Amino acid sequence: MDLIIRRARLRRAKTLVDIAIKDGKFSAIDEHINTEGKKEIDADGNLVTPPFVESHVHLDAALSVGNPRYNQSGTLLEAIDIWSDYKKDMVKADIKKRAKQAISWLIANGVLHVRTHTDISDPELMLLEAMLELKDELEEDVDIQIVAFPQDGIFAYKGMDKRLQRALEKGADVVGGMPQGELTREDGIRSITYAFDLAETFSVPIDIHTDETSDEQSRFTEVIVKYAMERGMTNSVTASHATAMHNYENDYAAKLIGNIKRAGINIVTNPFSNALLQNRLEGYPRRRGHTRIDELHAAGINVSIGNDNIMDPFGPVGKGSMLQAAHLLLHHAHLSDHEQIKDLFDMITTKGAKTLGLNDYGIEIGHPANVIILDASDEIEAIRLTSECLYVIREGRVISTAKPAKRRLMLARENMEVDFKL
Ligand code: FE2
Repeated sequence: MDLIIRRARLRRAKTLVDIAIKDGKFSAIDEHINTEGKKEIDADGNLVTPPFVESHVHLDAALSVGNPRYNQSGTLLEAIDIWSDYKKDMVKADIKKRAKQAISWLIANGVLHVRTHTDISDPELMLLEAMLELKDELEEDVDIQIVAFPQDGIFAYKGMDKRLQRALEKGADVVGGMPQGELTREDGIRSITYAFDLAETFSVPIDIHTDETSDEQSRFTEVIVKYAMERGMTNSVTASHATAMHNYENDYAAKLIGNIKRAGINIVTNPFSNALLQNRLEGYPRRRGHTRIDELHAAGINVSIGNDNIMDPFGPVGKGSMLQAAHLLLHHAHLSDHEQIKDLFDMITTKGAKTLGLNDYGIEIGHPANVIILDASDEIEAIRLTSECLYVIREGRVISTAKPAKRRLMLARENMEVDFKL
């Protein structure tokens, strides 16, 4: 055995197990593995899970906050304006450097599968080139799916339709879209038709920024549902954001959720940016900017989580932590029941894997040995403490380690260590 992880606590397991890895794959999972590994790690009863899945991020914009200016209104529209100005003077090496740093944060936080939306609105497709190069350079360490994302719409500006097609020819993995960014409702529908046509031509999945607005009149999710059903594309279709759903009239939302379930499409929610950008203009009372997570869950729809923005005009903070995103969503989406918190953990692992269409995901014999060890006894503690990722293992290779902070209190009558655990 190349590596044995001893005393691992798997989710939903009653006893600790040993996990053996050979030639980059899981080769044995048992209560006691009697052979010795070339390398051994004692998990010490900590939670051992498949790596986190980042379902939606914009690595091309990551860490650009403040360039050329900060977003003072906090709205999506000002963020898009700032990003447009930034794109006029961008330099590929700089984009790559920032994106690589953001990826290093994601990996250190236990993420090994990333779907990144890449803006294809510049004529040279330079951002796409930068992401394709990074994807190649880092392929041994992390899986990156690149969505060709028309930030400014497909038909709102001349030539974007051809640019989207060119991005797929150059190697983008997924077709994106932005129907609510088009000039009219009709163009929004046309842009979705165009994205589905391209997805069929190139045999790639679809992930569209859908109804990312507080406007309850924005109703493009239903169009995506219709095309997914008509064209028999189910698991490979994702509607990201769907924040307008929060504000829909309840009868319409109930009908839509039933049809999303019927179509089998995925929904991605982005707790940070949705909370930050949506419903900015409505004064008080101020509605939350999230889609209807609990109702989607109750209907059995696959919902996963993205960070969306890591220090850019759309979201000025962030460190690429899926646990932090899940922690925020727990509060905003009222997912505080014991089982609901466990479901939040699914949304950053197995449900994210379903959104990305990952094969061989999970700790099973024969699967690639991608696994993380968290400084937590279970998934609820991991979300509560936004725990450190002690080990990140990629195909049997340890690629990241962390040592949790030691805190020592010197009180008047005693000294003690504090780790926030029970
Ligand atoms: Fe996004």
